[in-house]
Amino acid sequence: MKVGNNYYTTVWADGQKVCMIDQTKLPYHFEIFEAESYLQTCKAIKNMVVRGAGAIGAAAGYAMAQACREAPKARYEQAITRARKDIEATRPTAQNLFFATKRVYEAGKQSPQKAVEKARSLAEENIDEGKKIGEYGNTLIKDGSNIETHCNAGWLAFVDHGSALAPIYRAKREGKKMFIYADETRPRGQGARLTAWELKNEDIPHAIIADNAGAWLMAQNKIDMVIVGADRIAANGDVANKIGTLEKAIAAYHYGVPFYVTAPVSTIDFACDHGREIVIEERAEEEVLFQEGPDAQGKWHKISVSSPGSGAVNPAFDVTPAQYISAIITEKGIVEPSQLQNLK
Ligand code: MRU
Repeated sequence: MKVGNNYYTTVWADGQKVCMIDQTKLPYHFEIFEAESYLQTCKAIKNMVVRGAGAIGAAAGYAMAQACREAPKARYEQAITRARKDIEATRPTAQNLFFATKRVYEAGKQSPQKAVEKARSLAEENIDEGKKIGEYGNTLIKDGSNIETHCNAGWLAFVDHGSALAPIYRAKREGKKMFIYADETRPRGQGARLTAWELKNEDIPHAIIADNAGAWLMAQNKIDMVIVGADRIAANGDVANKIGTLEKAIAAYHYGVPFYVTAPVSTIDFACDHGREIVIEERAEEEVLFQEGPDAQGKWHKISVSSPGSGAVNPAFDVTPAQYISAIITEKGIVEPSQLQNLK
């Protein structure tokens, strides 16, 4: 994706370093964060310097490759097994993290070089998957559509192209007109900060809406379709995605608005039969109680946005039952949630 005149991917390797666009600074500052060791990459994943299903997967793959290069020859297997556990502990809901870590770990058992090659090829595959999701998803978008999206599932959430925004970018390139409603996505504001930033870069008309505005807009026939990403999909078609997705899906179902999920096949956890088995990440209550950002002079602040002394509960994801999902758009085609087994 282009930022200014330069082409960027969200995450990439540069020798032993893993480089990533620092998503905690966007949309105010465009900075590259460089993780020198696998533990630094783990911290970056945990703190959401890099975030989003596909980008987390690529970063985790690169972290595993870093760990293989760092491991002492004498205790190689023990060290990389320990590193795999560290990486997998960073974001428990994100299926792509486990998918990539496992594959790079297996390659790394042969040699650090094999691990590096595997991590790179997984990141490249992720780019291709996003592109194909865009092509399939575009076929569902009619010219003049009003589309709601939740969280950020654009190119920042993948290595490039994205999942939920990929069809929108493709439709734009084909000359279709659209208007996008971006849910702000509390508490981390991925919609208000990242999706809005991407859409502005792409010159796509949009508005940020409060998280609780979607149902009302649907009730007024202002939304033609909802497109979201996914962090883990159970074999029965239930979808874990950013907290707040479930409410949108129920509202869309109620008002007869098509609700589409986009994800590469690597996000499907065929070993997980039902959505209730998906582990939901609980994040720090601080994320709900405080917000961060610059003042008018650009000075960075962390401010309280809730009654001092009160606690918060902060589940990062929810699970939308398959019955509310019109279709899942993957790089292999568009399938009904009940047909996922065909992609195995
Ligand atoms: O917690 P995050 O920002 O890493 O959330 C993951 C996501 O990007 C979303 O849930 C998204 O909708 C799915 S994947 C692109």
